[in-house]
Amino acid sequence: MKVMTPEKMTVQPRSGLRGEIEPPGNKSISHRAVMIGAIADGITEVTNFLSGEDCIATIKAFENMGVRVEGTGNVKVYGAGLDGLKEPTDVLDMGNSGTSMRLISGILAGQPFYSVLTGDSSLRSRPMNRIAEPLRLMGAKIHARAGDLAPLTILGGKLHPIDYKTPVASAQIKSCILLAGLYADGETTVTETAESRDHTERMLKAFGAEVASHGLTRKVKGRPKLTGQKINVPGDISSAAYFMVAAILCRDSDVTLRNVGVNPTRTGILDALRAMGGRISLENYREESGEPVADIRVRSSRLKGGDFSGNIIVRMIDEIPLLAVAATQAEGETKIREAAELRVKESDRIAATVSELRKLGAQIEELDDGMIIAGRSKLRGGECESHGDHRMAMSLAIAGLVSERETTIHNIECVNTSFPTFWEMLSSI
Ligand code: S3P
Repeated sequence: MKVMTPEKMTVQPRSGLRGEIEPPGNKSISHRAVMIGAIADGITEVTNFLSGEDCIATIKAFENMGVRVEGTGNVKVYGAGLDGLKEPTDVLDMGNSGTSMRLISGILAGQPFYSVLTGDSSLRSRPMNRIAEPLRLMGAKIHARAGDLAPLTILGGKLHPIDYKTPVASAQIKSCILLAGLYADGETTVTETAESRDHTERMLKAFGAEVASHGLTRKVKGRPKLTGQKINVPGDISSAAYFMVAAILCRDSDVTLRNVGVNPTRTGILDALRAMGGRISLENYREESGEPVADIRVRSSRLKGGDFSGNIIVRMIDEIPLLAVAATQAEGETKIREAAELRVKESDRIAATVSELRKLGAQIEELDDGMIIAGRSKLRGGECESHGDHRMAMSLAIAGLVSERETTIHNIECVNTSFPTFWEMLSSI
């Protein structure tokens, strides 16, 4: 691998990946620790915080609302209390981060002030009505550009509880409603169609809120007393996954990923790779800050194709471009369906995965809600493009490791949103 310009990276074919990696802190948990810490009483100390651009956007937003935050790797949030946020004097810029925009909107809906939220061109093209609609039902006044897009303006205030069924399984919608529910009088209920990641529920409970779960329904009691906590963020399985697939696909590899969060709402990629024949073992299983954690050992494996739809898609929603890379090297065809949500991520990840893997030599067919990948494709390597999407850039880098010739990925700055040390860690094994 050689650094060419900051905008592109070239990856050489590789075998014999060996070593240990500690992936960076979980992005979802890092965001939530700052958000909930900011509206709690007292200090929240976050260790192994992910200092990527997305989580820094969350910190900046709360600093703009008068919250004191210190540090980067280990972060101290001086909680302002449930009613202590101040009206921001400028537009809140969430950069590329959908989690920042959608979750913070829930908190802003409960504030007696006016705020404006914007982001980069990708975030400004992603649907926001999915959160604006329930927040309006709770009593907030929200305007969106073209009815569905950021910039958003939010005039918050007194909220009332709702009983809401989300149209798509999304932790961002669910979390937005639960956070707004903290400001409602009474009990707010949200029901999903499939279980999305539950980091918000776990963390709210740790801070002292009353959150109940029955099947796919979550309830939160309004006006809780939230108390600052010490949170040690586990490694992000979404970041670990690149090295898992690299070790599986490259010959003679044996890689251990230390301190990885294995919350069952996030381990779809482990289950999918195992079902395809991946040799993966979990060691040293433990619990930290209310989240399950383990070390994951992964060895070179012969994969067979698989058929994936339904609940497992939600449990590996950010890993599907990477699963498609793994599928190109499996014996037999892999089908991924009921994954239409991928079209409204940081890029249209169905179109981007199909177009970029085809450029490298894969045989892959686009479906409205997924893709069909032919196995045992010889990837030639060549030039490809991230579409400004961090998960695309990193998935294509892993494809580069198993291509015949070198692979250059263009437009890689986006990797800094979630995994600033990715290239360094890839070189280290
Ligand atoms: C996230 C939820 C998911 C995921 C995103 C992070 C979160 O989005 O894709 O990267 O932290 O809640 P959706 O809830 O829109 O599926």
